[in-house]
Amino acid sequence: MFRAAVKTLSVATTTSVSRGILLSIRHYCKKTPAKLRVSEAVSGADLGAKVKVQGWVRSVRAQKANLFLHVNDGSSLLSLQVVASSELNDPLLTFGSAVEVTGTLRKSPHQNQPVELEAQQIHVVGECNPVDFPFKIKERHGLEYIRQFPHLRCRTNAFSSLLRIRSEAATAVHSYFKENGFVQIHTPVITSNDCEGAGELFQVEPSGPQNEEEENFFSVPAFLTVSGQLHLEVMSGAFSRVYTFGPTFRAENSQSRRHLAEFYMVEAEVSFTQSLEDLTKVMEDMFRSATEHVLAHCAEDVDLFHKHVTPGHRVTVEAMLKKRFPAITYSEAIDILNRSSEKFAFPTDWGCDLQTEHEKYLVKHCGNIPVFVTDYPYDLKPFYARDNQDHPEHTAAAVDLLVPGVGELCGGSLREERLDLLRARLEEAGLEDTYSWYLDLRRFGSVPHGGFGLGFERYLQCILGVDNIKDVIPFPRFSHSCLL
Ligand code: 4AD
Ligand code: MG
Repeated sequence: MFRAAVKTLSVATTTSVSRGILLSIRHYCKKTPAKLRVSEAVSGADLGAKVKVQGWVRSVRAQKANLFLHVNDGSSLLSLQVVASSELNDPLLTFGSAVEVTGTLRKSPHQNQPVELEAQQIHVVGECNPVDFPFKIKERHGLEYIRQFPHLRCRTNAFSSLLRIRSEAATAVHSYFKENGFVQIHTPVITSNDCEGAGELFQVEPSGPQNEEEENFFSVPAFLTVSGQLHLEVMSGAFSRVYTFGPTFRAENSQSRRHLAEFYMVEAEVSFTQSLEDLTKVMEDMFRSATEHVLAHCAEDVDLFHKHVTPGHRVTVEAMLKKRFPAITYSEAIDILNRSSEKFAFPTDWGCDLQTEHEKYLVKHCGNIPVFVTDYPYDLKPFYARDNQDHPEHTAAAVDLLVPGVGELCGGSLREERLDLLRARLEEAGLEDTYSWYLDLRRFGSVPHGGFGLGFERYLQCILGVDNIKDVIPFPRFSHSCLL
């Protein structure tokens, strides 16, 4: 029988078939139950098998003869129903306790759960006092309530769904770049540059005593990165298409619903560009491809959000994917704002930066779908943005992608690749020595290029309809927040 099983395994083509065979081999060899994830158990592939499942109790119902539990181990939104004789009941079997259940997988008589585990043994691994536990059985706690418990909120359905979606969305981003010929670069977290020039830097120094003669640990003041762009630009000069996806830090005092002190940014840099459209195409394609991937691979988790957490948001997401994203220039955007009857708190004169209220208005005006705004005033943009050399406005070839509910999701630009223009701008800002290495990139094989950064948390807010950025990151960091 063992040989027969191995032979069948070698010709098995589907995962569930091979896993079923593996299970029988393990049974035959060791006579110990196979350990299954809940997602595997509920798939129905192992009916009749004796298995062990470990997880946390999501519901307990004791009847006269039977005990019913739902056990979840984070592998899926679905929990596994456990049916046991009431003799196996234990007062420590409470909502939130950790258990190990051994039993046989059976077809369930209930329509909404294909499989149940007929328990022979239930072991309480870790007890949980239901009075002290901040989440209560059968209650649907709001995101704001669960945010108070950053060390426990992953035990709720909503936040565990969010984190599975986040994980899958990150995979989708990497897949998009891999499929499109981009090389991933690990840009440094510690750097000496303030790429955005906004001065929102966290300085890095050793906490312990230092050699008194040395002012800094590094030879220059060092900071946590605000963007990997300049390092990506270095690499785009050899690999043509590069990207990075990592933590980014900004010492903003903002308590807003879309700013964090530590967030994740996806950044791409493309060489041999001809126009801003070379960048907007990558932004739009990546947005579509990641969103379609998430909708297909996390259907149940996304449904939980779109049905119970942010009802109705599905329609917005589908509308976003239906049409190509329109593009308007900054000057057109200013015209739209000035023609509207809306009373804005911030000025809308040409030359003013667009504020969240303006961005949200523009998105609504364009049909509540993502919209590109291009060609911002030259003076609003950092030193690296390419001069459009236009008159009388004087703009730079920069682009932001604005999305429903959030406002700015991506910021990017063509980079100033012309040595003389870049040097002049750096000299004007007194930065030519600091950025002499950056000028070298324009001395040796400079090509037209450009790139953008996408705020990963804002992306999740956008597709899930989540209002507060603190609800889409495992451990939010913002000014005055407590740190775990
Ligand atoms: O527009 P930003 O500042 O652009 C850059 O940093 C460029 N150097 C990127 C590049 O061209 N490679 O930031 C990019 C995006 C924003 O559009 C926003 O979505 C997000 O990063 N972002 C934040 N997200 C959360 N909290 C903050 N404090 C953020 N600041 C920016
Ligand atoms: Mg920006």
